[in-house]
Amino acid sequence: MKLAILGGAGRMGQMLLANAKDLGLDVVAVTEIPGSAHIGQPAAPGLVYQADWPTNADTIIDFTFHTCVIPNLRNAVANRQAYVLGTTGLTPEERAAVDEAAKQIPLCFAPNFSLGVNLLLGLVRRAAQVLDDSYDAEIVEMHHRHKKDAPSGTALGLAQALAQGRGVNLDDEAIYGRHGIVGERPRGQIAVHALRGGSVVGDHTVIFAADEERVELTHKASSRAAFAKGALKAAQWLQGRTPGLYDMADVLGF
Ligand SMILES: NC(=O)c1ccc[n+]([C@@H]2O[C@H](COP(=O)([O-])OP(=O)(O)OC[C@H]3O[C@@H](n4cnc5c(N)ncnc54)[C@H](O)[C@@H]3O)[C@@H](O)[C@H]2O)c1
Repeated sequence: MKLAILGGAGRMGQMLLANAKDLGLDVVAVTEIPGSAHIGQPAAPGLVYQADWPTNADTIIDFTFHTCVIPNLRNAVANRQAYVLGTTGLTPEERAAVDEAAKQIPLCFAPNFSLGVNLLLGLVRRAAQVLDDSYDAEIVEMHHRHKKDAPSGTALGLAQALAQGRGVNLDDEAIYGRHGIVGERPRGQIAVHALRGGSVVGDHTVIFAADEERVELTHKASSRAAFAKGALKAAQWLQGRTPGLYDMADVLGF
């Protein structure tokens, strides 16, 4: 595998570089946004940050910003490169471009690459099957103050898993935060709340609250290494796969 890490100077980019080195993976290019002060500076032994598309790689890892995902995918398709996409906050148009690209290249897309969160997705789906909508479902997430999108892609993934477990359409039931005279909580509502502050790597809690009891399922990430290790595992897993859209459940085999 010849790996390129996009956005290498970012929080996730740095973590990916460190973990790729620990695993002895062959990183052949590290990119940064055109105009960045990092361009031309050392990124890793023998590599400098580059703005050009890394044509020498066979596999791309993208943890950047949603606005560059469409051109990035276009480049990857043109160069027949496998793609691990961790960038969140995609618009519907950007999300549709992911589906299109996956018709031509193997692409693993996950709002969260940690083993624990992917286990949590399964647990939430199961809990939503067992606990009916007399259990009010609320999702609370907290992230560091620098995070640009809200709610987190993981919280949206958890909301989707919950809706699937209940057999409902998320768009029909979801609200995102509350403010003002919102009235009583309707049965079946799925509410998502985003907190921001400090250096929190990523906390997610899914609450099922009935009159007589409450179930809370929580995941707390304490290091971005959890996401980096999962993304690198996904990159290895994609080798030799046929084009298609894969997720972490495929990589982890559950
Ligand atoms: N899926 C997951 O498991 C997971 C985990 C953590 C973060 N994320 C997501 O990953 C993304 C990045 O998070 P972060 O905390 O590392 O952000 P960050 O802002 O620290 O890093 C992003 C980097 O990408 C660079 N960049 C932007 N546009 C670029 C382009 N066109 N080409 C090359 N580089 C470009 C930026 O300059 C920056 O250095 C966010 O969308 C975040 O929500 C996903």
